[in-house]
Amino acid sequence: MTAPASEILSVEAIRAQFPALDRVDDGYPVAYFDGPGGTQVPRRVGDAMLDYLYHHNANTHWAYPTSVETDALLWQARATLGDFLGCGAGEIAFGANMTTLLFHIARAIGRGIQPGDEIIITELDHHANVAPWQALAKERGAVLRWLPLDLTTYRHEEGALESLLSPRTKVVAIGAASNILGTISDVKALCAQARAAGAITVVDAVHYAPHQLVEVKAIDCDFLLCSAYKFYGPHVGIVYGRTEAVAALDLPRLEPAPDWVPESLETGTQNHEGIVGAAAAVEFLAAIGGTAGTRRMRLERAMHGLHARGEQLFTQLWDRLAIMPRVKMFGPPPGTPRTPTLSFAVDGYASEVVAKFLAPRGVYVSNGDFYATTVARNLGYAEAGLVRAGCACYTTSDEVTRLVDGVQDLVRGGA
Ligand SMILES: Cc1ncc(COP(=O)(O)O)c(C=O)c1O
Repeated sequence: MTAPASEILSVEAIRAQFPALDRVDDGYPVAYFDGPGGTQVPRRVGDAMLDYLYHHNANTHWAYPTSVETDALLWQARATLGDFLGCGAGEIAFGANMTTLLFHIARAIGRGIQPGDEIIITELDHHANVAPWQALAKERGAVLRWLPLDLTTYRHEEGALESLLSPRTKVVAIGAASNILGTISDVKALCAQARAAGAITVVDAVHYAPHQLVEVKAIDCDFLLCSAYKFYGPHVGIVYGRTEAVAALDLPRLEPAPDWVPESLETGTQNHEGIVGAAAAVEFLAAIGGTAGTRRMRLERAMHGLHARGEQLFTQLWDRLAIMPRVKMFGPPPGTPRTPTLSFAVDGYASEVVAKFLAPRGVYVSNGDFYATTVARNLGYAEAGLVRAGCACYTTSDEVTRLVDGVQDLVRGGA
């Protein structure tokens, strides 16, 4: 289903929900382009977290009301996040963040890895989907194989996965969208190839989930991870685990702790208020899609409408920067499968200098390699870093204009 941007909540109505947008620096209202590093939080998310802490705060699985309420709220949150990813409540688990969850899962997978087994990772991925596999390969004597990035298309090399798969491939770990280039990869097709080879499939959807509605059952992977702080929630990691895939893991656990799926994936007491906040972030997104239909239907409308809006903003950003001398942009062009996240460099300036030039104008951009270490190195920007600007649900065309005007002033006048 597609929905035009006009069928969802207006950007003004969305912006009114974000207290952070009231911030003014040196007379400039702040334009937050740092969403790929972490988005701002709508009031209803903070309210839900406070309501939990003030009125329902307890540990789980006891007999008194606040504990019963906590159990109910956590289960409700699993159901809400299940709607967000396209699965049932029983397939959602939580953790500190995506990185911690993946180290945990990789270690459990590793208990079944033999010397000489192979793990496929990609050059396009954030280091969080690289380091856990590197650690595993080192510990278990496994072999790492890299899915190469084509620097002309900014995509995985066509047909490359097929040639890397072998009867010894045990894991294929891929990102759904690149947090540095914005590239959206065809994880459905890649997971199908990996599955056919008998590999466990792990998808990093941290940068994908804020921009596209995840259809985890269509992707048909074993594990998919995302982080609520990238989609207007608090700092909580979320993992979808296919029930059989989780049950097959040899998970480290405390003897008295629950050993049923999905709680078996969670270690220790969880961040209850954060989990409640993550569910409130999904409700916030669903409400952008109006009031008609199920939560999943509202999310579909919202994400499609936001995607259409994001494409317009991204095209404006791309087209203006493309004609500026000394500005070099990286990543697939508008109109191709990508998120509205742009990394660029200004010739002669380290990325930090650009970010520092823009900040006093109330334009917040990120700089560096964004932990997409291999991409930055392959592009030759490991040292200078790139400037990254991401459009979020609260981004306006005026803000994009302020960003590109700022870059233009830098190019013309210098820092
Ligand atoms: C694509 C991608 N994967 C993984 C991560 C790591 O997520 P977390 O901070 O939840 O560990 C990030 C964080 O920036 C990311 O952008």
